[in-house]
Amino acid sequence: MKVSEALKSRLSANMFDTKAELSREQITELVELASEAPSSFNTQNWHVIAITDPDVRKQLRAVAWDQAKVTDSAVLFAVLGNTNVVEALPESMDLATNAGVVGPDIKKWFEDNASPFYDGKPQLARDEALRSASYLAMSLMLAGQEKGYGSGPMIGFDPIEVAKILKVPDNYVVTLLLSMGPLASEGNWARKPRRKNIISFDKF
Ligand SMILES: Cc1cc2nc3c(=O)[nH]c(=O)nc-3n(C[C@H](O)[C@H](O)[C@H](O)COP(=O)(O)O)c2cc1C
Repeated sequence: MKVSEALKSRLSANMFDTKAELSREQITELVELASEAPSSFNTQNWHVIAITDPDVRKQLRAVAWDQAKVTDSAVLFAVLGNTNVVEALPESMDLATNAGVVGPDIKKWFEDNASPFYDGKPQLARDEALRSASYLAMSLMLAGQEKGYGSGPMIGFDPIEVAKILKVPDNYVVTLLLSMGPLASEGNWARKPRRKNIISFDKF
């Protein structure tokens, strides 16, 4: 599937095939594809919880506006952004240097500059957590689209209660809940047309 086809066929689904299941391998492949998303300073400051346990999903639905897709899709993802933006930087930069992508001087530059950029700036750190997790979430939706799965992003939930249920550490923001899997054969809306007057050139 071309990227343009994935973009034009994706829609936010409400009705999922309640009998469909995805294996851990299938779910892991989707998340690994999504983690190809970019992140500031290569911090990869995200985490994904894949939720298949029906009991956990029932608890989540109770704090997510009773949205049926929380329980009904093959998998539910909680996409998290890390407000301790540079926490994973040593690991991600080691991977890059070990793969020969960047040399030790570039690794040092990233590590020297990333921390001061975010230190003492909680708003910027939270913005970065949301930004990174959002890139990952969109990539996840497109990866699912290629596999023939529908998706349903949600911010309609109580973030404090969701974090409690999923035992999310304090430094992570639950950016999005995301249902994914084969869709029900009927009940979903058609694609919504897009506004066209969203671009200006050179200045607003
Ligand atoms: C950040 C975000 C939060 C959303 N939250 C919800 C939600 O809680 N429940 C829901 O049914 N749809 C939710 N949506 C889906 C939007 O309603 C949907 O993207 C929009 O209507 C455009 O439709 P489309 O995605 O099918 O093109 C959300 C979408 C985004 C990007």
